[in-house]
Amino acid sequence: MSKDFVELSKKWFDGQAAVYDETDTILYSKYGKISCKNIFERLKKMDFKNLLDIGSGTGYLINMLSQTHEAEFIGLDLSPEMVRVSNSKNIKNAKFIEGRSDELPFEDEKFDVVTCSQSFHHYPDTDKAMQEAYRVLKKGGIYIISDTGVGFFKAVGVKFDDFIYRHFSNTGDCNVSYLEKTVRDMERNGFNVVDNEKLNTFVYTVIGKK
Ligand SMILES: C[S@@+](CC[C@H](N)C(=O)[O-])C[C@H]1O[C@@H](n2cnc3c(N)ncnc32)[C@H](O)[C@@H]1O
Repeated sequence: MSKDFVELSKKWFDGQAAVYDETDTILYSKYGKISCKNIFERLKKMDFKNLLDIGSGTGYLINMLSQTHEAEFIGLDLSPEMVRVSNSKNIKNAKFIEGRSDELPFEDEKFDVVTCSQSFHHYPDTDKAMQEAYRVLKKGGIYIISDTGVGFFKAVGVKFDDFIYRHFSNTGDCNVSYLEKTVRDMERNGFNVVDNEKLNTFVYTVIGKK
């Protein structure tokens, strides 16, 4: 059975955009806030000239970073409604555009930092998404993925998601992973993994360097 997960994700988040920020539950912004705050803490003291946030949603992460950094910020998101909401906030030095994680509309080696908070599990081709992040990063640039994964019985959990959950769900979730797998995937796609952290049973962050 093949489903168009990209189209499902777009519909799902178009429907959420207007109330995403204030709906602090697991199906809305709860884990996004946990991930964005963790990424923010990690970048707070780091110097960078520009940053791309993939799956930027309502701009929560870029909004925080724009208050501590004089950098150029670009948020890219599949959902036109998410892009509309984030642009309506008029965040300093930031612009938000529509786009897909697996076809980034940027030249090679443009960004110092690429981030991805709670979006990766919606990508049907995660290797392509990592390769695109790698391509647009400068040498030495930082890639941070923070995402929700399987908390326990990992291999069984991934199989359950592959064979059962994603066939019945309409949320566009299609890549259920976990910290150790994301580390391996990043390394296979050329990154040097420099740190990782478990934020709770399900949420984790992995940091790679090009
Ligand atoms: C759970 S929200 C997270 C938003 C924000 N990053 C946060 O942490 O609050 C996931 C976002 O990823 C976007 N998204 C899903 N699939 C995508 C894709 N293939 N390319 C770009 N964005 C995508 C969705 O439209 C949605 O805005």
